[in-house]
Amino acid sequence: MNFYVMTLFPEMIENGLHTSITGRAIRQGAIGLKAVDIRDYSTDKYRHVDDYPYGGGAGMVMQPGPIFDCYMDLTRDMLKKPRVIYTTPQGKVFNQKIAQELAGEESLVFLCGHYEGVDERILDEIVTDHLSIGDYVLTGGELPAMVMIDAISRLVPGVLSNDTSAKDESFQDGLLEYPQYTRPEEFHGRKVPGVLLSGHHANIEKWRREQSLERTWRRRPDLLEHADLTRTDRIYLES
Ligand code: ADE
Repeated sequence: MNFYVMTLFPEMIENGLHTSITGRAIRQGAIGLKAVDIRDYSTDKYRHVDDYPYGGGAGMVMQPGPIFDCYMDLTRDMLKKPRVIYTTPQGKVFNQKIAQELAGEESLVFLCGHYEGVDERILDEIVTDHLSIGDYVLTGGELPAMVMIDAISRLVPGVLSNDTSAKDESFQDGLLEYPQYTRPEEFHGRKVPGVLLSGHHANIEKWRREQSLERTWRRRPDLLEHADLTRTDRIYLES
């Protein structure tokens, strides 16, 4: 999977994602990352890429020309047109299902907005997906792009060291994950649940499933509507 990010702040993307698990995945070649500075495509000697909005109003609007030239430069040698994601609070809210779908793409291009917005014509021309990370407004699209790239990357084979670790966690089956414990057995008077020390695998599995169900029911009951539930799960939830 190759990620391309069109941005005014390439160092923010590069610094953020060349760290921890995504950083290792880039070094090992499991994913590729290229952040491109839209300002490099400005045609003006002051490297401006924005201008006043037609019709008046506050703020500046990013011009279509530099973004288009940047996009053409990035995609020139691609065999097929990639999906182009514009990060915007006006988009569909990103979730694990969308992350899974996007993880199947060969390349993804992100366009990060700034100022009051981006000229609508470039969005009409190149963008395939408008995506938000939640109902709040950030100063720019870089953090949302990084959030999405992180979530997508960990679903790409070879990124997580243990292939099973993306399977057994919150949202994979539509439920929140069960609680985890490690040593010591007792911390500030709080004991690790006895079943986890029993070595009885079937009981541990049952306990974990019940904890997942209970946690989801308490914290995110909205998720239960679309979760993969067995008959035993339903009986437990009704009890
Ligand atoms: N840009 C500004 N706020 C955003 C959000 N919540 N999601 C995606 N892009 C954004």
